[in-house]
Amino acid sequence: MYLIAPSILSANFTKLGEEITNVIDSGADWIHFDVMDNHYVPNLTIGPMICEAIRPLTQAPIDVHLMVKPVDRIIPDFAKAGANIITFHPEASEHVDRSLSLIRESGCQAGLVFNPATPLEYMDYVMDRLDVVLLMSVNPGFGGQKFIPSTLAKLRAAKAKIDAYEQESGRRIRLEIDGGVKVDNIAEIARAGADAFVAGSAVYGAGKDSDPHRYDSVIAALRAELAKV
Ligand code: DX5
Ligand code: ZN
Repeated sequence: MYLIAPSILSANFTKLGEEITNVIDSGADWIHFDVMDNHYVPNLTIGPMICEAIRPLTQAPIDVHLMVKPVDRIIPDFAKAGANIITFHPEASEHVDRSLSLIRESGCQAGLVFNPATPLEYMDYVMDRLDVVLLMSVNPGFGGQKFIPSTLAKLRAAKAKIDAYEQESGRRIRLEIDGGVKVDNIAEIARAGADAFVAGSAVYGAGKDSDPHRYDSVIAALRAELAKV
């Protein structure tokens, strides 16, 4: 039920292929793929070419987190590049409903991302178009930041909305958390309602660079914490 999604933002890009293979072999569930445009967020990362290049390496879902504005132009490119899940920030789209539809029409699962100050109301009229709700527990743009504690209350509120929707529709929406997730706070975050956990620096910062099994123990530790919930 709980999914671990290491963010490749913190991987060693000189050997990205190995980094992805190793993290999946160590038990990760999703590959979290952070796309930044130096416009919506003050950083610049990777695009559809890299998504396409890593696609053959794994069966694991590629979870594309768009931190770009505008969003619609790039959605079909990521779908063609093999993305499975595409999420975007509502502030970055002029037409949230249309962008969500475009993602589904492209054959991917769709989600909205909420910055720390973004109200959850953005989801209210589009629940049927959502497969994932992603709450940012840091301001987007960089890995290695500290988890913002008020996100726990926001997670509980998001979970209540998702539970109410499941009651009436029978359909479950995933509740993903992104930013500052570590072994020492993942259980508390799960108790607040998250069921998918992005972890960048916590996973890719672990172990010695030369050891292909260096992610085994951190992923096992994250799962052990989740087993206590
Ligand atoms: C931040 C990104 C995150 C980031 C998380 O804008 O969306 O996915 O990589 O990194 P950590 O886990 O180090 O906070
Ligand atoms: Zn992310």
